[in-house]
Amino acid sequence: MPAPAGVEIRLYRVSDYAAVTSFKCADPRRSWTREAELVIRKAPDDIRSPDAKAQIVVAVDDGRIVGTIVFGIDPQHQKTRSIFTIGVVRDRRREHIGISLKRAALAELVATGYDGPVYSQVHRYNTPMRELNGTSDLSGA
Ligand SMILES: CC(C)(COP(=O)(O)OP(=O)(O)OC[C@H]1O[C@@H](n2cnc3c(N)ncnc32)[C@H](O)[C@@H]1OP(=O)(O)O)[C@@H](O)C(=O)NCCC(=O)NCCS
Repeated sequence: MPAPAGVEIRLYRVSDYAAVTSFKCADPRRSWTREAELVIRKAPDDIRSPDAKAQIVVAVDDGRIVGTIVFGIDPQHQKTRSIFTIGVVRDRRREHIGISLKRAALAELVATGYDGPVYSQVHRYNTPMRELNGTSDLSGA
């Protein structure tokens, strides 16, 4: 499941600040998607701290940020890592952008020497994210 042609998956840059702090991935009547959006919008400020525990990877198509993942050290369990959230803009869903972001985040964690479990807490009604997490494409990543 590669990222769609033309979509670049890369680490967040300071020049992405305005786009990420106003990123939109909320669905009407699904409160958990609004929570995801808020976590993403806050992340650029969170990672400014010198002891930042999170990282951001973005999906960019023709200069537009179409997806974002926030991941890193779990504050409650410092020895483990978590995917805090993933968001994809509504008009670009089901193109494998979300899964590409997750794959990139897992690769980034491995590249930093981490080889333990990576957790992802998902609202029980969040079918897209539950299905994404269950996809066999990520097994063993
Ligand atoms: C969850 C989310 C990030 C998925 O992003 P996406 O780019 O649409 O997902 P992908 O295209 O990478 O999907 C990968 C796989 O996940 C599963 N999946 C994704 N969306 C699904 C849906 N709506 N229904 C069923 N399965 C779904 C499928 O198995 C899919 O593979 P397939 O299309 O080949 O069948 C996106 O729906 C989103 O931004 N939701 C709002 C924010 C949110 O809830 N984030 C998660 C918070 S923890």
